Amino acid sequence: MTSFQYMCGTQIDFGVGAIERLPEQLQAAGFGRKLMVVTDPGLMEAGIAKQVIHHLNLHGYAITLFHQVQPNPRDTDCLAGAEQFRTRWCDGVLAVGGGSAMDTAKTIALLARHGGTPSAYADGERAYGEAAPIACVPTTAGTGSEVTRSAVITEDATHRKVTLKHEWLRPNLAILDPALTTTVPPHVTAATGVDALVHAIEGYTCKKTQPISQAFGARAMGLIVRALPTAYRNPADIDARQDMLLGSLLAGLCFGSADVAAVHCLAEALGGLYDTPHGLANAVFLLPVLRYNAQAHVDLHAEVARLTEFATEDDPPTKAIEKLLSGMQAWLHELDIPPLSSLPRVSRDDSDKIVELAVANNSTPSNVREIDADGYRAILDETFAVNAI
Ligand SMILES: [Fe+2]
Repeated sequence: MTSFQYMCGTQIDFGVGAIERLPEQLQAAGFGRKLMVVTDPGLMEAGIAKQVIHHLNLHGYAITLFHQVQPNPRDTDCLAGAEQFRTRWCDGVLAVGGGSAMDTAKTIALLARHGGTPSAYADGERAYGEAAPIACVPTTAGTGSEVTRSAVITEDATHRKVTLKHEWLRPNLAILDPALTTTVPPHVTAATGVDALVHAIEGYTCKKTQPISQAFGARAMGLIVRALPTAYRNPADIDARQDMLLGSLLAGLCFGSADVAAVHCLAEALGGLYDTPHGLANAVFLLPVLRYNAQAHVDLHAEVARLTEFATEDDPPTKAIEKLLSGMQAWLHELDIPPLSSLPRVSRDDSDKIVELAVANNSTPSNVREIDADGYRAILDETFAVNAI
């Protein structure tokens, strides 16, 4: 018997030039005229955020700017943003940026209305309530946060990453314009793109998956595997950028109503401890976790092998998995993903801490194969032993 629920109430406008429709889409979605734009210093410097703000000013929007978003976004910034939102009488947030800007904006929208700290919600100490209206303009293809109900925030004081998850955090509006992603540097394109693939694979295979998530994940895998090397090599290739933005959107719709799993649990431990960019942290663990999971779930991973197009329908399951692992390794190599041991600040001496954080992650029980501290330790040892991907 199949039984499942699927939710996604986000209004989506996708396509080259979609950013031009932002003012009318905000109006149609019921946003007020006092918006807080949440972005990061890099996008301010690149001029993208300024362009969007200028466009909104011309259409009568009063903008409060919050532009200090950091990678692995901080609870302290969310609290400062919420305070600014209240004192400036804003009535909605607009994130312009990648996952960090979107997760910060979502959390600000919640805290501004209901107070408390991000951890209080994530730890179940405070009840969620309706957030202020949330709109997202993603500028990278990776996170899928523009359609998900979660936000991952790092506690500044402890470096612990906490995940806020509730329907009230799901954006009301997402404007996806592939043209906004053409200036993303190649190494960021690669890392965020691998994050999107991991969303599709983990959303498709995890214990919380269901048919609608699997349908989105199945389509996302092929799109991302095909388009990412082209977007990496030729940043201005608008077709590849479009496929990547579509792939990351579909991957968001996949895992957003299922879960992520062991790759993310290890990646979030790394991000919390060392500020490793989220996509890069996922990329270094993808292959060893696939190997660990595929041993116990052969048919499921043979499906993944075919959907990622590393194997064909004619390959028997064990052959398909061999092709998945070798094909994925070559694909990651093409994207110049560095090995774990070469990442800044990462130390093997911290293995106990990384394992402890991964085990404590709320998504650990969702991994398709049971995993405990010993399982994570084995994966971590294997990953540290690799000198080149
Ligand atoms: Fe992710």
